[in-house]
Amino acid sequence: MDASAPAKTILFGEHAVVYGYPGIATPISSLRARAATRPETMGSGLRIVLQDMQEQSIRLRENPEHPLAIAAQLLLDSVSAPEPDWTITVTSDIPIASGLGSGAAVTTALMRALASALGASLANEHLNEMVYAVEKIHHGTPSGIDNTVIVFEKPLYFRRGTVMESIQVGKPITLLIGDTGVSASTRVAVSDVRQLFNSQVSATTQRLEEIGSLVERSRQLLQVGAVIKLGQCMIQNHQLLQWLTVSSPELDRLVDAAVTAGALGAKLSGGGRGGNMIALVQPDSVQSVREALLSAGAVHVFQTKVETC
Ligand code: MEV
Repeated sequence: MDASAPAKTILFGEHAVVYGYPGIATPISSLRARAATRPETMGSGLRIVLQDMQEQSIRLRENPEHPLAIAAQLLLDSVSAPEPDWTITVTSDIPIASGLGSGAAVTTALMRALASALGASLANEHLNEMVYAVEKIHHGTPSGIDNTVIVFEKPLYFRRGTVMESIQVGKPITLLIGDTGVSASTRVAVSDVRQLFNSQVSATTQRLEEIGSLVERSRQLLQVGAVIKLGQCMIQNHQLLQWLTVSSPELDRLVDAAVTAGALGAKLSGGGRGGNMIALVQPDSVQSVREALLSAGAVHVFQTKVETC
């Protein structure tokens, strides 16, 4: 039984979303994690093979503390199933530690493949809660935006603990995603922003509020298809993220290169300090912005469309 889940990118509001401000995220359906189950001999138990990571093999019995073993056990417990004698092979197109939600996508694909092989139905709401529980092991205090957009696979307006709403996109927009090739820990970036917040409460709160306002404005701009203003909001959001110390020279270089080459706006996306940035592009500047990103050091450039599903 095969299952999959997409990568994600955050359009607006990363980091502020951890503090209860809203965020907007969208799936990248062309980049996916996949999981496939196959039966093994009786008594062999459950084994998870990570094909893209030197065929790393995790056995439920021997590595119960591994986040993917915890994910598998959570799923089995939720449907009251005993450990099956299966191998689950996981593959992924999503760069690791790059702000594209690779961990949450792998967990989602794994849980879906297990549920499907067990013949159990799995509602997205329930799956999302379980993936969030595993995200906490990876990231400490995640807002939940990554797992939610990955599980539901549609553009979302999200506010921690309260709201998850689909976004109506008035006119599909094209994004180029530039990968700095620098892996970065979201956990560290989130914890550094927390320290900044604790040491400069009022200045940091002011920036987080500004990000929250940009998210509200961008949501309206997305709905009416006002792409030029949307691009300006991206640039402002990036400047606020720079203030929060989560940009990096590589990210700034890619953002500047994209805007100089004609992108309507650009910003880092996700935890920052490395990983990926996004650029909002009109169809006629896709090629020039892609080339500019590659010349400025991007190791990959992906293209995706944001549209109402
Ligand atoms: C990471 O993709 C987004 C952050 O806002 C962390 C989170 O929301 O959990 C940096």
